[in-house]
Amino acid sequence: MSRALGLSVRAKLTLSYAGFLMLAGVLLLGVVWAFLLRYVPNHPMIGPGPMIPNRGDLVRAFAPKVSLMLLFLLAFGLLGGWVLAGRMLAPLARITTATRKAAVGSLSHRIDLEGRNDEFRELADSFDAMLARLEAHVAEQQRFAANASHELRTPLAITQTLLDVARNDPDHDTTELVDRLHYVNTRAIDLTEALLLLSRADRRSFTREPVDLSLLAEEATETLLPLAERRGVTIETAGDASPTIGSYALLLQMTTNLVHNAIVHNLPDGGAVWVGTAADASGVLLIVENTGGRLAPELVSTLAEPFQRGTQRTHTGHAGVGLGLAIVRSIAEAHDGTLALAARPEGGLRVTVRLPAVPRT
Ligand SMILES: Nc1ncnc2c1ncn2[C@@H]1O[C@H](COP(=O)(O)OP(=O)(O)O)[C@@H](O)[C@H]1O
Ligand SMILES: [Mg+2]
Repeated sequence: MSRALGLSVRAKLTLSYAGFLMLAGVLLLGVVWAFLLRYVPNHPMIGPGPMIPNRGDLVRAFAPKVSLMLLFLLAFGLLGGWVLAGRMLAPLARITTATRKAAVGSLSHRIDLEGRNDEFRELADSFDAMLARLEAHVAEQQRFAANASHELRTPLAITQTLLDVARNDPDHDTTELVDRLHYVNTRAIDLTEALLLLSRADRRSFTREPVDLSLLAEEATETLLPLAERRGVTIETAGDASPTIGSYALLLQMTTNLVHNAIVHNLPDGGAVWVGTAADASGVLLIVENTGGRLAPELVSTLAEPFQRGTQRTHTGHAGVGLGLAIVRSIAEAHDGTLALAARPEGGLRVTVRLPAVPRT
């Protein structure tokens, strides 16, 4: 963007310092002059007694000195103003340097302004904080892209191997090959769909409508009941109506992911899942709790990160793509809500999603 060249802030400050100094000088002289005038007559006094100077004499005597003094004030104001403004504005130069560096992509630079807390210090500190957040965000995105590429390459590499084997061995059982290719392809589609869903939730571009979490919980449970029965898991649903505002499809996906996790990451047999909803003045809650193996708290805090799959990777038919909880968190945050994970002391997980309540109109 090109802008017309203007006076620098330093020059403006200098001029205003000098200007104020001159104004103060002139005002002071004016007061002194007015004071003198009261005692000096306008015309020469005629009569006996000593000669008293009249106004003309006074002007002639003082005018050169007054102009000299005003000139000195001007020079002093300009010089002092220039030095003072330079000192005041020094932090600004450092902030500008940091902004320029950030603009060309160097996010690791910090201003680190020292000194007392003033407006510049506040600006510099918040700028540093913004840089730190941006740097972390960019690093996270890069990590995510690298992980996603890696995950997407895996099914393609497996497909390639299967095809190579089939080509080198003409008597290969094609039915088995097709089955395995189909399985690998399904996983690739699942992964791609999960990635698309994640970016859709992150973009926050969805229409919002009134949604009742308790109905979502019922619907998700009903859909997943056959899976639960196959795995010998019982599901209990309970809770009050919990109205909120959001995307029905995304919130259903969120609930389904949670109930699905609660079923598949459960005890091998005889596990239990509890799905509950609640509403209070501050918001609505969806709580999904399940039995299962003991989970270390430090592991639990990482589970919602993309592609985190806990420690023991299950090679059963339901090896997920590791995006389930990342999607849940994204959807919750896109609805101005939060996701909280807690290991149950007796084993298993308790997941709590808090969403804003419907504002009463
Ligand atoms: N309800 C749960 N109970 C126990 N562990 C869970 C539960 N939900 C998720 N996890 C753990 O968190 C990991 C990440 O979950 P998720 O993001 O849904 O990925 P995925 O289910 O595809 O592995 C899972 O691999 C599992 O180890
Ligand atoms: Mg999952």
